[in-house]
Amino acid sequence: MKIPFINHNHSDESIHISHDHIPDHIAIIMDGNGRWAQKRGMPRVVGHKEGISTVVKIVNAAVKCKIKVLTLYTFSTENWKRPKPEVDTILKLPKQFLQIYLPELMANNVRIKTIGDTSHLPPHTREAVQYAVERTRDNNGLQLNFALNYGGRQEILNAMKEVFADITDAKLSIDDVDEDAFSSYLYTAGLPDPDLLIRTGGEKRLSNYLPWQLAYTEFWFTDVLWPDFSEKEFIQALEEYRLRKRRYGGL
Ligand code: FPP
Repeated sequence: MKIPFINHNHSDESIHISHDHIPDHIAIIMDGNGRWAQKRGMPRVVGHKEGISTVVKIVNAAVKCKIKVLTLYTFSTENWKRPKPEVDTILKLPKQFLQIYLPELMANNVRIKTIGDTSHLPPHTREAVQYAVERTRDNNGLQLNFALNYGGRQEILNAMKEVFADITDAKLSIDDVDEDAFSSYLYTAGLPDPDLLIRTGGEKRLSNYLPWQLAYTEFWFTDVLWPDFSEKEFIQALEEYRLRKRRYGGL
């Protein structure tokens, strides 16, 4: 059995993790940026910028652990309700991140994709992400999904409308609409459902994140705020996942 290890940036400590029962797909709700900044007397947007460093660390950890898919909740359909300067800052983060880290992602064989309605994002966000999607399309390592302008209920409604349209156009028979067929109309078509959901920041809710796909997912919550989240907690989540017995409604 291969034992990958991860070196912490801030210490000499190494973390070991068994390589068996590693989840194929991990979804993360990166919560707590605003509180992290406010605790330090700084504007909330400083927390979002700091959150980029954690994204880099966790993507690298996921690569080392040979995770196949990592899906990060970056901007929800509900996040538009925040003050405009905060929305503007969050929507600049993908470009800022990719300008610096795209070469490293290429070197790590990471393929970037998005889930969500990217058509309503500002052009600078859409173009930066689209460029990264094109550049990394032939990579076959970790698939890194950014959920951008993503809302789970909206995703299901859109899928339902497309199913109806295909039934109306006789491209699909109603008898063929089973779970697999319906899943193929979602943004995550072709991907395995997440095995593990991680939510940082202490809240214990889904916030409209992947409601269909998380039906049988294992949940792991931590009070640690996203900018403080590190490889150590990530590995802890993987270790706890390893000990869970998944029964999918059986015994
Ligand atoms: C939730 O924290 C976080 C967000 C809405 C934004 C998440 C974005 C990042 C972590 C950076 C993304 C990075 C890349 C590379 C695109 P919150 O603001 O709700 O925190 P709070 O609960 O403390 O208010």
